Amino acid sequence: MRLDYLTIFPDYLAPLELSLPGRAVASGLLDLQVHDLRRWTHDRHRTVDDTPYGGGAGMVMRPEPWGEAFDDLGIEGATVVVPTPSGRPLTQALARELAARERLVFCCGRYEGIDQRVVEHAASRTEVLEVSLGDYVLNGGEAAALVVTEAVVRLLPGFMGNAASLVEESHEAGLLEYPGYTKPATWRGLEVPPVLLSGDHGRIAAWRHEQALTRTAERRPDLLHASAAPGEWAIEPAT
Ligand code: ADE
Repeated sequence: MRLDYLTIFPDYLAPLELSLPGRAVASGLLDLQVHDLRRWTHDRHRTVDDTPYGGGAGMVMRPEPWGEAFDDLGIEGATVVVPTPSGRPLTQALARELAARERLVFCCGRYEGIDQRVVEHAASRTEVLEVSLGDYVLNGGEAAALVVTEAVVRLLPGFMGNAASLVEESHEAGLLEYPGYTKPATWRGLEVPPVLLSGDHGRIAAWRHEQALTRTAERRPDLLHASAAPGEWAIEPAT
């Protein structure tokens, strides 16, 4: 999979070289490139933003550097991912969809966002997804791009050592994960649930499932009624 990042803060994305994506790059599974958006500016101050038409607070990112970056990098056939609080909520299902793509181009906006024509233009050339981490506002898309990357990359075939841990974990089954325990069996007066020491795999599986259900009902009842794949969020490429 190829991953491109367009940002005015390339250093913010340095963690991509560590941890999970770093390992995937080393193993040849990922081709990962971070690009400084200011490379596609032409004025002395390398300006990327301007005041909003119609007035209001803050600055909006000008479209030209994005357009030139798209031209140079070539976005055709890629999925352009634009982190924004107005986007489609990131879920495990969306991470799975993105993990099936050959190439993602992350557009990390700052200030009050990117001129909306950038999304419109990109969508005339290829698939575009505006993605939100949740109902809160970050200062820019970089942290969100890191989160999306980690959620996606760990799903790539051949990436995780233990494929079973992917199947059992939170959200893959639409439920929160059951609690985990390891040695010692007694710690500071707290015992591991005895069923886990029973060796009875049927009882253990039933207990874990019940724990997952109870936790989900208590903490995230919305998940028990959630429907999959909100297709209206996708912006299809023009054909
Ligand atoms: N950029 C700013 N806030 C964001 C959010 N909540 N999700 C994704 N990108 C963002």
